[in-house]
Amino acid sequence: MALVSCLQRCVQLALLPVYVLVHLGLWDTVYKKVFPYIMARLASSYNRKVHRQKQELFSNLGQFVGPGGQLRLLEIGTGTGTNFQFYPAACRLTCTDPNPNFGQFLRKSLSENPHLCLERSLVAPGENLHQIAEGSVDVVVCTLVLCSVSSVESVLREVLRVLRRGGAFYFLEHVAADRSSWTYFWQKVCDPAWKCFGDGCSLSRETQKDLEKTKFSELNLRRVHVPLRWIPASPHIIGYAVK
Ligand SMILES: C[S@@+](CC[C@H](N)C(=O)[O-])C[C@H]1O[C@@H](n2cnc3c(N)ncnc32)[C@H](O)[C@@H]1O
Repeated sequence: MALVSCLQRCVQLALLPVYVLVHLGLWDTVYKKVFPYIMARLASSYNRKVHRQKQELFSNLGQFVGPGGQLRLLEIGTGTGTNFQFYPAACRLTCTDPNPNFGQFLRKSLSENPHLCLERSLVAPGENLHQIAEGSVDVVVCTLVLCSVSSVESVLREVLRVLRRGGAFYFLEHVAADRSSWTYFWQKVCDPAWKCFGDGCSLSRETQKDLEKTKFSELNLRRVHVPLRWIPASPHIIGYAVK
């Protein structure tokens, strides 16, 4: 632990100008504008790596179609809209993201996926989805989002609230490695710095524990390894939980 703290300090020292901007409150303002461009650049290579897993994950979306005959799908932290290609035709989509600067990328993804019908796009954090009525959606999707939210517990509470009974929550998230591994050691060393460059993202979050604590009636969760070269974020969880 002492070695982790010492290395964290070294990284922080090397990034001193960034930390000054963070403390002056300037970093977030600028980075929120830049982050969507970074995501748009990185998303294609990441998504090539997880394409098969996503395809398999979303292949049973159809079984959650609600009484109206159309799938009402809410995506939290939609970002650039990398999951749109996996959603079924005529699905009624609501997108939410607290960062309004993703707009142009979202519109581009929508134009590339004309099979989708965007019903609403909200600028809102997953912790507070009050614009969405209780029990009004069939499926909620979150990919690479729970690592960045300020409270996983509050987001999952909102997910349970907006889902109809029998609806499902789909997730793909990078998580903490095994605590005895070198990957976990590097996750802890990089965490403070990565928070700045990953828009609040934590590398060592044990998100599966929050999912297990949430009162879903069924949890289908698998650990998978996504090969990532420069970031210690290869351990992922993937699956869906039913309300
Ligand atoms: C790494 S990106 C992933 C984007 C997209 N879900 C994907 O898989 O490509 C993280 C996303 O989470 C969003 N985000 C950050 N904090 C959030 C919060 N509290 N609630 C909802 N989304 C959040 C960010 O704005 C960003 O769009």
